[in-house]
Amino acid sequence: MNVKLDPWSSTNVEDYSKLFEEFGIMPFDDLYSRIEDPHRLMRRKVIFGHRSYDRVLDAIQNKRPFAVMSGFMPSGRIHLGHKMVMEEIIWHQQKGADAFVGIADREAYSVRGASWKKCRDTGINEYILSLIALGFEPHGHIYFQSDSNNVKDLSFELGSKVNYSELSAIYGFTGETSVSHMVSAVTQSADILHPQLEEYGGPKPTVVPVGADQDPHIRLTRGLGHKMNMFKIEGREDKNGKHYFSIRSKAAPREALEELADQIPGGTKLFEGHLDVLDAEDFEELIRMIRDVELRYGGYAFIPPAATYHRFMSGLQGGKMSSSTPESHIALLDEPKEGAKKIKRAKTGGRISLEEQKKLGGEPDKCSVYELLLFHLIEDDQELSQIYEECVTGQRNCGSCKNLAAEKMEKFLKDHQEKRELARERLDEYLL
Ligand code: TRP
Ligand code: SF4
Repeated sequence: MNVKLDPWSSTNVEDYSKLFEEFGIMPFDDLYSRIEDPHRLMRRKVIFGHRSYDRVLDAIQNKRPFAVMSGFMPSGRIHLGHKMVMEEIIWHQQKGADAFVGIADREAYSVRGASWKKCRDTGINEYILSLIALGFEPHGHIYFQSDSNNVKDLSFELGSKVNYSELSAIYGFTGETSVSHMVSAVTQSADILHPQLEEYGGPKPTVVPVGADQDPHIRLTRGLGHKMNMFKIEGREDKNGKHYFSIRSKAAPREALEELADQIPGGTKLFEGHLDVLDAEDFEELIRMIRDVELRYGGYAFIPPAATYHRFMSGLQGGKMSSSTPESHIALLDEPKEGAKKIKRAKTGGRISLEEQKKLGGEPDKCSVYELLLFHLIEDDQELSQIYEECVTGQRNCGSCKNLAAEKMEKFLKDHQEKRELARERLDEYLL
């Protein structure tokens, strides 16, 4: 029997390996051992990749400021996929992050044609209530894009660093695309960078938990962060192979560069548009000095945002999960009994007959019921790996998994919906 005993479905992760090679997303495995009590989604390799998440881990470990940020478009219904992102936000908030959640009403307005009233209703009644019910704490920030002058002002500035060709390469924009749609693209970048504004304590590592498909936005935003900054630091080598740093001024006033030359200890050489630092001993300290000078001269000194990437659940009927097909997903506002029924009708990795199942074992890696258990319903790793093992060795039948998952889902939905009603009473603690 060719069975692979990996309850965390690494087979699925391998499908994403292209992202590592082609796009430079790093495997999450490399950092995993540094994380104290990792979240269920980390333990189970649902979160499989990252960009510069090591900085965020450094901040967690050294108790330095950092932020977590994500956004939700207030259109459609909140489902388990959104819950996953919310849990990641809340986990980081509990680790000390300043947490930001943007309700992307500008995006819903311009891309989906949703009215402002609809955006407000959906933002609150679908997304914000669930976020609070799942444990988001009131010291974090929940905002509507259209309410945030910080976000809107920053998006305008970011817009000056990106042109139509770049946006159309990333988002497939054409001559038919409305201007507001383009504005909503830079608004998303402003969402991600604005936790680093002075008002929120200045530059800090910021992690954006997203699905793997969102990487183009992350790359755009990291690029914009760089472009906004006054200085660019380059590692160089002189004729004798000795390393040094060159601080290039992009938009810095002359005095800023001069001030840096005065401050940096050891050998520096000041040129027209750059400053060479010949023997920087402490790179971190150097960066900090540059950042301080930049901030004093009115720059942003953004740190490129970090991201974690999770894989997706498949649809309950196989294929993709889609928010426009109710049967393919479970919404957090589904009637608890209806949620349970969807599971009973879901596609499993079971064989055509009980006899086959006993002989060959099931295929949990292809089973949407197992995915529900793995992503959402079972917290205990031992319990889950036992189910996996029973499945692949033919000792388990799909009926028992379905019953278990349906029962747990019904209970979760009922409980979550009660908590949402309590959250409703506390809304004003969250929304100013
Ligand atoms: N564009 C995202 C979506 O379609 C929503 C979003 C807006 C977002 N701002 C964001 C996601 C910032 C992550 C970070 O769902
Ligand atoms: Fe899926 Fe359970 Fe059936 Fe295995 S036994 S295929 S895990 S439902």
